[in-house]
Amino acid sequence: MNVAIVRETYPGEHRVALVPGSVPALIKAGAKILVQKGAGIAAGFPDQMYVDKGAQLVENREEAFAQGDIVFQVRSLGANPEAGKVDLDLMRPEQIVVGMCDPLGNLEAIRQIADKQAKLFALELIPRITRAQSMDVLSSQATIAGYRAVLLASIHLPKMYPMLMTAAGTLSPAKVFVIGAGVAGLQAIATAKRLGAVVTAYDVRPEAAEQIQSLGAKSVQLELETGGSQDKGGYAKDLGEEFYQKQREFMGKICSENDVVITTAAIPGRKSPLLITTEGIKRMAPGSVAIDMAAERGGNIEPSKADELVELEGIKIFGPTNLASEIPNHASQMFSSNITKFLLNMVKGNQLSMNMEDPIVSGTLATSGGEVVHPRLREIMELPPLSPLEGEPASESSTQEKPQ
Ligand code: NAI
Repeated sequence: MNVAIVRETYPGEHRVALVPGSVPALIKAGAKILVQKGAGIAAGFPDQMYVDKGAQLVENREEAFAQGDIVFQVRSLGANPEAGKVDLDLMRPEQIVVGMCDPLGNLEAIRQIADKQAKLFALELIPRITRAQSMDVLSSQATIAGYRAVLLASIHLPKMYPMLMTAAGTLSPAKVFVIGAGVAGLQAIATAKRLGAVVTAYDVRPEAAEQIQSLGAKSVQLELETGGSQDKGGYAKDLGEEFYQKQREFMGKICSENDVVITTAAIPGRKSPLLITTEGIKRMAPGSVAIDMAAERGGNIEPSKADELVELEGIKIFGPTNLASEIPNHASQMFSSNITKFLLNMVKGNQLSMNMEDPIVSGTLATSGGEVVHPRLREIMELPPLSPLEGEPASESSTQEKPQ
């Protein structure tokens, strides 16, 4: 079982899928670890550190794909649509590729990998169940991103976060408003609190209030009946335009009372809800900073643009899409721990054994045997359901019905 680690090629991506510290656990489980030279450099892991832990180096990407039975990546094709095309040519039938690939956002990439007959495990699809928590890359990377968002705002805010009482007078603390108290939001709240800001937060799920308060922040509620805001997977669900309209009015008012706004409201597989209009954000004082963490999926703040700074009447609005990569050492460490546990969950007696009855395995497998096999992806792609045979490629009839 050769596990190959390739250097990331997405522009500005500094993370690496496996850090040296994870190598021994995989070797113990029967794997041989092949690391493309320089793969970990940008995250602070030079080649020698991998060698010291028992990994072998390979010269380039071609060799890594040619020798790896399993390839680990932070960003597979779907999450690296331009530079990742090179990988498509290197993928082999039955090769296992594990990484993030934006499965719900880039169906074309999924189809292309299926056509290569590779087995793609899309890490974003890992079910949010207790047993899979230690493998959940979305959570680990959102934790890092939430922290980083607060720091990004701090650099551009013309104020300090903490209250200071000095001989030169008293400085009042900065006020930070966080929308969406999921993984990224809770970490943003905790970080802003630690830095001394006065923090207010809002989430559409009423049960988030307790978590917000436990971090020492104030929870604000919109007095509207949401009729259940969570789906059975534990994610927020779409609540309809009337609700969002009322919410935007409410958000604009709270924005006007804060120096920093950080938005993290997401609904998986959907465009992010628009929570703050241009008029709403303009109610902030000049010098205020807004960070739209959902900018990649359309954004929560109307004027935000992915990976751009928009300035509006002295208010800075950022839409960073790859914040975790800006803290690449720790982000890689967490990603590596996730991906290692994910693979070890499929190893029995030093052999790879994919139990399709395990929801972690079947829920994450996107392509196999030339087919898109994940039921949700098939549904979105309007493909007929597969035969119930475990992980087997579909019947010939469904192969013929693949969209072009
Ligand atoms: P999550 O699913 O843990 O949390 C999202 C939260 O938003 C949930 O608590 C949900 O109830 C809340 N929410 C949904 N609709 C809402 C609404 N209308 N009003 C208020 N709250 C609402 O997601 P996670 O992992 O915290 O990620 C949050 C966002 O950050 C996602 O859009 C994700 O793509 C993005 N993200 C961005 C990164 C970056 O570098 N910019 C890095 C990591 C995540």
